[in-house]
Amino acid sequence: MNLLVTGGAGYIGSHAVKQLISLGHRVVVIDNLFRGHREAVPSEVPFHQLDLAETGEIIGVLKEYKVETVMHFAALTYVGESVNKPLWYYRNNTAGALSLLEAMEICGVNRFVFSSTAATYGEPDSVPIKETNRQAPINPYGRSKWFVEGILKDLVIANPKFGFVALRYFNVAGASADGIIGEDHEPETHLVPNVLYAAMGKRDKITVFGNDYPTPDGTCIRDYVHVDDLISAHVLAMNSLRDGDAKFYNLGIGHGYSVGEILNTAKSVTGRDIPTEYGERRAGDPAQLYADSTVAQTELGWKPVHTDVNEVIESAWRWHTSHPNGYGSRRQDV
Ligand code: UFG
Repeated sequence: MNLLVTGGAGYIGSHAVKQLISLGHRVVVIDNLFRGHREAVPSEVPFHQLDLAETGEIIGVLKEYKVETVMHFAALTYVGESVNKPLWYYRNNTAGALSLLEAMEICGVNRFVFSSTAATYGEPDSVPIKETNRQAPINPYGRSKWFVEGILKDLVIANPKFGFVALRYFNVAGASADGIIGEDHEPETHLVPNVLYAAMGKRDKITVFGNDYPTPDGTCIRDYVHVDDLISAHVLAMNSLRDGDAKFYNLGIGHGYSVGEILNTAKSVTGRDIPTEYGERRAGDPAQLYADSTVAQTELGWKPVHTDVNEVIESAWRWHTSHPNGYGSRRQDV
């Protein structure tokens, strides 16, 4: 299959590129490198530094590489940042997707795999979260993606040859088994890398955002899915797509871990102390999000391999300790 991967230089997109080329697909990447790393994309993969707003250039790429399917990872993904900079999120995530979809329509590309998010559910009315749970995002990040889901539903009605799958990610963590690529954000706001940075001494401490949530230890509960498992679901979803499909799948391991539990796991995986302080709640954070991924498992045959959070954190630890300065470390190695 000829694929365009947007955001292929980012954390999740780069793991997708790796898996797709290992399966023999032909991949072209676009990424504006705002937070991505050119080094995360193998040199043999065609790469174009483009922003999603550049509709005309994207049309050129779709035509040049005879793209059949688009996997759309390019997005801003920080819940907290989205609360402070909502327009960034609507421009990049919502308007950006619109520009990409327009380019696809012009070129007759009718297959779309969309990175959606558990943040579209907001504060869930019940857990584990099923795809049929009410979607009521409580932050601009979740809303920016939820709008795209709505646009996609409208597109399928207008064009019965179009088919899409929206994959609602829970908390993605870990790194590729060979340790070549991993998570490297600037700034880094996610829990798992920051906890490991504190273990490495790259940060003084970790601040737990709120310990007064209605959860057993008072800290937020999330579902940590390994990035390689997440990408396996993309491949299965892509292969399943047919004309007129409008599919939605939750991608999580179905087990929630509190921030406190992640800290304890990271202490045992690293064998190091992790200096911790308790701070205020972070704006836009729901108390608990964990998935019921039964539909992805039964319809797609998806079986997450890394269902133990220890393994997820171990794989992230391997990446961070072998690349203490992220992709900067690799540049120094060369
Ligand atoms: N947290 C801390 N301290 C930190 C960082 C995070 O206590 O230094 C807490 C957060 O408050 C939250 C949990 O750890 O309760 C996880 O936070 P992350 O920032 O790692 O991830 P989020 O849950 O905010 O968001 C992630 C992705 C989103 C996705 C969401 C779905 O970044 O794209 O998971 O669950 F939508």
